[in-house]
Amino acid sequence: GYEKTLRPSSLEEYIGQTDLKKNLSVFINAARQRQEALDHVLLYGPPGLGKTTLAYILANEMRGNIKTTSGPSIEKSGDLAAILTTLEPGDVLFIDEIHRLPKQVEEVLYPAMEDYCLDILVGKDSATVHNIRLSLPPFTLVGATTRAGDLSAPLRDRFGIVSQLEYYSLKDLEKIVYRTSCVMDTKIEAQATKEIAMRSRGTPRIANRLFRRVRDFAQVYNDGIISLDVAQDALDRLKVDHLGLDSVDHKYLRGIIERFKGGPVGLEAIASSIGEEPMTLEDVYEPYLLQIGFINRTPRGRVATPKAYEHLKIPVQGSIFE
Ligand code: ADE
Repeated sequence: GYEKTLRPSSLEEYIGQTDLKKNLSVFINAARQRQEALDHVLLYGPPGLGKTTLAYILANEMRGNIKTTSGPSIEKSGDLAAILTTLEPGDVLFIDEIHRLPKQVEEVLYPAMEDYCLDILVGKDSATVHNIRLSLPPFTLVGATTRAGDLSAPLRDRFGIVSQLEYYSLKDLEKIVYRTSCVMDTKIEAQATKEIAMRSRGTPRIANRLFRRVRDFAQVYNDGIISLDVAQDALDRLKVDHLGLDSVDHKYLRGIIERFKGGPVGLEAIASSIGEEPMTLEDVYEPYLLQIGFINRTPRGRVATPKAYEHLKIPVQGSIFE
């Protein structure tokens, strides 16, 4: 399907995150030369920047298989043991949202990461129960999280490679949109490629989602050709503005400005005033608004900056900046 081909399968094909890519390439080559598993890798950063894609690439480059799971879906240590015991030498175990692993599951992970060992309890009752230690093949744990700060220190310290993914530049997003148009066999004007890239908030997943929707408009209105006109019209109709802000971003900023005089205001208060989950706002919306300087985080809460007022065409009177 599209997903498989859209996702680059080698570091070579992967666009952006240049410094990270160069470092990973060294670690991969060194591990392969020594015929060892790659050290455990922690990837952190906002959603949609390619953490999962990189995990698949690492498995590919190491010529191993990948098993994927997520923090919230591993409820008991037995769930983790069931996955660990299927691993073969050099495999990648990918745990998405690793900050949401239950504490007692985390403790099974420590010896697995450090010594490739699995400690399990066997026995029918308290009299016969005892610990047995199973050895695991050398494997690579790839953990992904939007919140490196929420990881416990003992878990974080067991990753030999800790990397932050960054928002993509306009140029890199253009390359990604162009690549997607080739994979999907769609004609696109250079200016339309740029328009989609500009409205993708530095995020490949958003660029690819917008690409698909713009392509629908092009198919219905323009014989499938994505011209600048079609792209602009489609993106306007999707309510994605020139900076890539969508209706939730607008509600969030208007919420701070109109209901809370521009802040400072606590996350919970904004969230309930606009009917969104605090966690969604914090993980998905705020990182980009912080990055482009539309909000600041202060000890007393969020503040909308003059840039945000200007973008929404709201005069700054009455705000703390007056
Ligand atoms: N598709 C999504 N993210 C990508 C990336 N970083 N490089 C190439 N294609 C992608």
